[in-house]
Amino acid sequence: MNQNSLHQLLGKTKFNNLDKTTLNHLFELRLAANSTLIKDLYFSLYPEENYIQDFEKLLTLLPKLFKNRPGDLKKQDIERLQQGDWYQSEKIVGMQLYVDHFNKDINGLSGKLDYFENLGVNFLHLMPITTRPKVENDGGYAVNSYTEVDKKYGSKTDLQNLTQKLRDKKMFLMLDFVVNHTSDEFSWAKKAQKGDIAYQNYYYTYPNRDIPDAFERSMPEVFPTSSPGNFTYNHEMQKWVMTVFNSYQWDLNYRNPEVFYEMLTNLIKLADLGVDVIRFDALAFLWKKIGTNSQNLPEAHALISLFRMCLQVVAPGVILLAEAIVSPYEIIKYFGEKQLKGNECEVAYNATLMALLWDAIATTKTQLLYRSLQHLPKKPKSATWINYIRCHDDIGLGFDDQEIYNLGLDAQQHRLFLLNYYTQKLNWSQARGEMFMYNPKTGDGRITGSAASLLGLEAALDKNKPGDIYSAIKKIKMMHSIILAYGGIPLIYAGDEIGTLNDYSYKNDASKKQDSRWVNRPQQNWDVIADLGKKESAESQIFYAIKNLISIRKNNSVFADHNNIKLHKNGNPHLLIFERFSEKKRILVVCNFDAYPQNIAHYWLENIGFSICENSKELITNTSLGLKNNTLEIEAFGTYWFVNE
Ligand code: GLC
Repeated sequence: MNQNSLHQLLGKTKFNNLDKTTLNHLFELRLAANSTLIKDLYFSLYPEENYIQDFEKLLTLLPKLFKNRPGDLKKQDIERLQQGDWYQSEKIVGMQLYVDHFNKDINGLSGKLDYFENLGVNFLHLMPITTRPKVENDGGYAVNSYTEVDKKYGSKTDLQNLTQKLRDKKMFLMLDFVVNHTSDEFSWAKKAQKGDIAYQNYYYTYPNRDIPDAFERSMPEVFPTSSPGNFTYNHEMQKWVMTVFNSYQWDLNYRNPEVFYEMLTNLIKLADLGVDVIRFDALAFLWKKIGTNSQNLPEAHALISLFRMCLQVVAPGVILLAEAIVSPYEIIKYFGEKQLKGNECEVAYNATLMALLWDAIATTKTQLLYRSLQHLPKKPKSATWINYIRCHDDIGLGFDDQEIYNLGLDAQQHRLFLLNYYTQKLNWSQARGEMFMYNPKTGDGRITGSAASLLGLEAALDKNKPGDIYSAIKKIKMMHSIILAYGGIPLIYAGDEIGTLNDYSYKNDASKKQDSRWVNRPQQNWDVIADLGKKESAESQIFYAIKNLISIRKNNSVFADHNNIKLHKNGNPHLLIFERFSEKKRILVVCNFDAYPQNIAHYWLENIGFSICENSKELITNTSLGLKNNTLEIEAFGTYWFVNE
């Protein structure tokens, strides 16, 4: 049993009312229940012989943080514990968006909540809205503060009004916590630059190249073209500082416990604004060690779990999302392993599924997808995925090389094919993507582009080919049908619900043109939205198809995530078939990644317990499907949700 389940048990008693005394009592219980784990995690990072007093500081910090948490959120925390694992519900459907690109600012967004309600979205991930450097700021991931809202987006009051409105509508909010680094304009970085040694120790700073060179020998580069290397020389400070991402993003030094306290306080302050899910940005990088790649280290896991255990004591209704876009076997560890199982992050990005879906689109085959998914260890029952096809970042080809070799393919050649397919190097490919951070030293590269452009809609519209437009729309629907049916929270990237194409305007902006991720960060097109349903446009077809999928998902509790998913291998290399099941219902999801129809023999369906008869229905079209010569035809890029009750 993980700690959260324990708190659920402790909070289950039916209290007559959740008054202050009861809430305080439950806090004391949580503190007592978590303190052994907190102590062990703490001393595993900060050895007891040197840090005993610092630990006492942590024990006095937690009650203070709890005291400051708003009363209504304290109540909500307990209600959520009583509800169980609320984040696994089929009723949650998410959208990720840039507030300024969506509708100007926070108040503009607030005015559009009916748009989400109409579509069926009730979980919002807003990209960073806190203060940041004026020119280059990595889309707000270079933070000048963790809780001060940048004027461009509005004020803190606007944010609090929004969170209140969302709570009233039973909608959820996710915001980022950029836990690995601050900007070079952050108050700590400024003090460090002025020569304050205490603050220089908040970061990894060095007077000469000795230690940086030792680190560099085994550390890969994250942004090799725009920000090569992992250290930047700061002239004012006359020191090298670790900057794994961009040169203006300074890595925090968690070897210093002061950094942990300050960041824990910032984390709770963010939660106190009414945030439900906190996206732990770039958390794989939290601990650095010479001689390693400084990613996914055991100490990073201990640190994340320490944050988790403290947050759980203060705000048990708030959960963490792991933004670990790393290899499949590493991602799963962010749910916690061994004694930390279920005690790290509740949610993680399903980056493996995402990358594999793009592999299946390019190759029209699902073999790599099957192999990789089948070999993945099961996630803990209390955890869930964020399932997505696109987000604001690039698509990294982060699947396991060995799985590619097992298919008899050369991993490097295969990756090169995918890069070429998506970045307009193959004239037969319909995909209109761009290359991101191609590293000639390693041959590695990543892909950018909007879902619709990568799936061929842009090219098809340009060439005005109705057949190709039709195929692209089908692919867009199919990809969304998968993330909406797979176990976890589906997260639609704003604009994808209307098939938004690439936005090339970033090429004219000096602060953005090095970073092709901006091609997939478009403005929400409200003119298109105003016309939805009025004409038979591609946008309309996509929007209504996704809306339909969302509504079916929400009406079928079998889509809630209880590890109730089973892959079925049919032998046809173009099909993806998986089942969602409960005691009462089974839904079979079948997708065809090929441009030609594929057949499934009826006896095969019967073998897995699905028979196509008068009672069997396909939920997306709401029809019963017939067989031809005892086979079921799956149309090109078709997607089906068959139900057997
Ligand atoms: C995460 C964000 C990405 C950002 C990076 C550094 O990966 O998703 O956009 O560049 O962290 O903060």
